[in-house]
Amino acid sequence: MTSTFPNISISTERLVLRPLDEDDVQALAEMMNDEQVAAWTDVPQPFTVAGAREWITNYAPAERTSGRGLDLAVTEFLTQRLVGIVQLTKTDWHVRSTELSYIIAPWARGEGYASEAALATAQWLFGDQKLERIELRTAADNTASQQVAQKIGCISEGVLRGACIAHVHADDGTWIDVRTDFIVWSLLPEDLEGTAEQLADVDGFTSLADWN
Ligand SMILES: CC(C)(COP(=O)(O)OP(=O)(O)OC[C@H]1O[C@@H](n2cnc3c(N)ncnc32)[C@H](O)[C@@H]1OP(=O)(O)O)[C@@H](O)C(=O)NCCC(=O)NCCS
Repeated sequence: MTSTFPNISISTERLVLRPLDEDDVQALAEMMNDEQVAAWTDVPQPFTVAGAREWITNYAPAERTSGRGLDLAVTEFLTQRLVGIVQLTKTDWHVRSTELSYIIAPWARGEGYASEAALATAQWLFGDQKLERIELRTAADNTASQQVAQKIGCISEGVLRGACIAHVHADDGTWIDVRTDFIVWSLLPEDLEGTAEQLADVDGFTSLADWN
């Protein structure tokens, strides 16, 4: 059975996760031009404003309508600033599984935002979308990402040897590919029992129509 994710807004104590919109273009472009994003993700570098616009107006809507995934803007509830994104990809509606990843803007890191956003997304996926498995893949040396996975209750399942292309600076300052391992993590509905109490609670899910 193929399906699609709805346009959704998820509220937590400090964050609102919602669809990306055109007002996010500048902030998205700025947040993606970052050493850690360049090192650990496939986001093209330098990441241009045109690239951000393409992501928001074409790529993200196509991911959703095809059923493959969902791209959510992570915003601060109080300031409404864009602080990051949560991405769902490779969704399998038969298995009811999806792959989750996150990026937080450099200036907003260390505040627990990635964990809060990922956990809220997982709770929505299990509770509302009836998914049964969330997978995360972290590059072997990406400590920050692994800490987030661990903090939200993910179980490390093993290593995909040589499956990850990370990026390092070449002598001339350009980025070059380096092959490394992926650590595979998963989260099942039962793994979340008890985790929510340790982190900020999810306040609710709202369909986009309600949210607007
Ligand atoms: C990975 C990333 C999203 C983490 O975002 P964040 O909002 O700073 O993460 P959190 O604040 O929720 O941190 C969660 C835990 O990880 C720890 N952590 C965060 N960054 C860390 C780092 N660089 N080194 C070690 N631990 C780190 C935090 O201390 C926290 O644990 P604690 O509560 O026990 O102190 C962010 O560093 C990022 O955007 N990196 C670049 C993109 C990327 O690698 N994405 C993941 C691709 S798989």
